[in-house]
Amino acid sequence: MWFPSFTINFLACVGKSSLALQVQLANVTRLCHTKSIVTINGQFPGPRILAREGDRLVVKVVNHAQNNVTLHWHGVRQLRSGWADGPAYITQCPIQPGQTYVYNFTVVGQRGTLWWHAHASWLRSTLYGPIIILPKLGVPYPFAKPYKEVPIVFGEWWNTETETVISQALQTGGGPNVSDAYTINGLPGPLYNCSTRGLVLRISDALFLFLSMIRSQFCARAETFKLKVKPGKTYLLRIVNAALNDDLFFGIAGHNLTVVEADAVYVKPFVTDTIMITPGQTTNVLLHTKPSFPNSTFLMAARPYVTGLGTFDNSTTAGLLEYRSPGGPHSVSMKKLRLFKPSLPSLNDTAFVTNFTAKFRSLGSPQFPANVPQTVDRQFFFTVGLGASPCPGNQTCQGPNGTKFSAAVNNVSFAMPTTALLQAHFFGQSKGVYKPDFPSNPTHPFNYTGTPPNNTLVNNGTRVVVLPFNTSVELVMQDTSILGAESHPLHLHGFNFFIVGEGFGNFDPNKDPAAYNLVDPVERNTASVPVGGWVAVRFLADNPGVWFMHCHLEVHTSWGLKMAWVVLDGPLSNQKLLPPPADLPQC
Ligand code: C2O
Repeated sequence: MWFPSFTINFLACVGKSSLALQVQLANVTRLCHTKSIVTINGQFPGPRILAREGDRLVVKVVNHAQNNVTLHWHGVRQLRSGWADGPAYITQCPIQPGQTYVYNFTVVGQRGTLWWHAHASWLRSTLYGPIIILPKLGVPYPFAKPYKEVPIVFGEWWNTETETVISQALQTGGGPNVSDAYTINGLPGPLYNCSTRGLVLRISDALFLFLSMIRSQFCARAETFKLKVKPGKTYLLRIVNAALNDDLFFGIAGHNLTVVEADAVYVKPFVTDTIMITPGQTTNVLLHTKPSFPNSTFLMAARPYVTGLGTFDNSTTAGLLEYRSPGGPHSVSMKKLRLFKPSLPSLNDTAFVTNFTAKFRSLGSPQFPANVPQTVDRQFFFTVGLGASPCPGNQTCQGPNGTKFSAAVNNVSFAMPTTALLQAHFFGQSKGVYKPDFPSNPTHPFNYTGTPPNNTLVNNGTRVVVLPFNTSVELVMQDTSILGAESHPLHLHGFNFFIVGEGFGNFDPNKDPAAYNLVDPVERNTASVPVGGWVAVRFLADNPGVWFMHCHLEVHTSWGLKMAWVVLDGPLSNQKLLPPPADLPQC
């Protein structure tokens, strides 16, 4: 039996399965703030989707909300099924209020944990959930079978409405408000003050304070994720970072974690006491519980890894690892047990992150080989980072020096089209929608990680790279120091890439490739460009369609740190993008 405690919040698929997801409003209370949020089927976080490698998923999405919505199956390769990928205005027009769209795709050659989320504006702040892909029937994990499997999904909670947060920020040009809490499986945990924040005590308020203290304690208890475990067992934690804008450190007091998978690809197992996970990334870890009842409770906690200059939510979300007591549930009072807290790296511990990231290697076994391209047809060098765009006349802007914040790839801030790129491509109507001239290299090279140039204004455009089918691509992504160097989690749709190298400072094309790992590099769909550094990835463009690539920090995506690859059809009939489904939404 899978996840017995979660059976109502869980959709199973075996072979072919059809799911119905209703996009609908629901009232949800966190930190003593109740707000109406967009949900799937009234659940927050959204339901988990269970599939097996090779399954076809037919997901009918009905939009009962007032927002334009799409769903994206983050990390699912979508071989020839780009119409089901989900990013708004890239592969489809949004599903409008009252409309329905059926996402139809097959999970091929992937097993592990991925996730789904809304891919329109900031709706993914509440519309997200895990996708659990089991190996094919009868195929074991390349590690001992865990006793139980538990999703651990990190999120970010705002007391106010996130669509307002981002639309106001884009209007004023300033940085958006940061979240009020991080969450584990939707729950902020006991380290947040529920309702008494900022309360000034007057005698007439005494009763109110007393009541709110009771409520506060209640909130902390009810809003805490608890993992109840037995001693001497192995648990598989399926970890997802669904936060909008923050890389996260995570650890469990008194316990090590063995990393076995990243982005639904097995890795060579390694042991760590803390992980760092960026938005968009997923990872499976094994947790071995203590051999006998420890007479203690252990906090699990997550807090951000921060490299940029902007304000951020510096709070900590926590849950509890509770051992079932040997004499039955009431033999030990949990309150009397000693509570241990994990010690996480400091918020800017780049040394830890560098060291941790370097430990990821593909399993590279005969059964699960690392098929990293050994030769390269096309090389690309993209700068990624922030920039500014001018403040429109008769407005005052709150971005840098009275401008508006922007972000760009090779100084192109991606302008969202008003129709879907994939439709324009498939029907040969790209004229006026996008241009196939995205720069392969910076048009004005500069010292990317040195003193920034005086002119930090970006260009706007809907420009794409066009690749023939089966092009072997090498892409170096270079952080810039414009408005502050910052680590950026870059996510590619439609492919996994192999992370063949990374480093700090400016990439050196004469020296750095010599150190590439072309043997067992990790294969992922989301890679961090190190703060003030670069990352080199390779992938084979064997999936025809239009594939979005963007920073998975949602604020940077909103500012334009995004672009798209158009991969052309191959010559064979099974190398062509299939035609769109009849119910593809109209813009
Ligand atoms: Cu998880 Cu384009 O996103």
